[in-house]
Amino acid sequence: MRQTGKLAAQTLVHLEDKLKIGMSTEEVNTIVHDFMIEHGAIPATLNYHGFPKSCCTSLNEVICHGIPSEKDVLKDGDILNVDVTTILNNYHGDTNKTFLIGNVAPEIVKLVEVTKQCLDEAINIVKPGARLGDIGAIIQEIAHGNGYSVVREYCGHGIGREFHEDPQVLHYGKKGTGVELKPGMTFTIEPMINMGHRHCELLDDDWTVVTRDGKPSAQFEHTILVTESGTEILTLP
Ligand code: MF3
Ligand code: CO
Ligand code: CO
Repeated sequence: MRQTGKLAAQTLVHLEDKLKIGMSTEEVNTIVHDFMIEHGAIPATLNYHGFPKSCCTSLNEVICHGIPSEKDVLKDGDILNVDVTTILNNYHGDTNKTFLIGNVAPEIVKLVEVTKQCLDEAINIVKPGARLGDIGAIIQEIAHGNGYSVVREYCGHGIGREFHEDPQVLHYGKKGTGVELKPGMTFTIEPMINMGHRHCELLDDDWTVVTRDGKPSAQFEHTILVTESGTEILTLP
């Protein structure tokens, strides 16, 4: 899990300085695909329940599961989430990040920063004895405190030999409720935070999830391990 997590994280680092205005999300997909293959990994999203590409690329009002395409070209002021999942030696590493493209409007930069803060503070409370509801509660508190909403239809998940395992890791909830965390558990936390309403809609391609109100949405994701003393982020480069 450490090895696959590290490789997933390195994939995003490798991509980061190649992103530029005018590039298509199809090119993003190629960079991600080639990097994983060169490092002995399989892109987990490719053919996953029929998903056609090696990463998800979610622009602006796309919440998650955007499909890379030659038609989607990065422009100044966009935010782009790239979600990558490696399979290395049969184990999965899953991470995503929202990148700023060129000059992004300050209120959208703030959305991205607060979303990162939601993930970081959720990770910080993970330790044996904490509960899944604590994770949801802190994310909800930070998002709502900034006037944003939390997407409810998609969630974090256990991860290991399978891409998506139990338990579901909700990004909203009540402190002190839900599954108790124990050393050795590996799961993702991946809050999707909307600038407007939380409601989403599925496009006709059956994958792309967008905000119903067309306002932007941001996301960050790490795969983490519960340790005896707290947590270890597995998707660090
Ligand atoms: N990587 C996503 C997650 O964080 C799942 C993408 S599944 C796909 O769980 F099929 F849309 F690629
Ligand atoms: Co995930
Ligand atoms: Co992911």
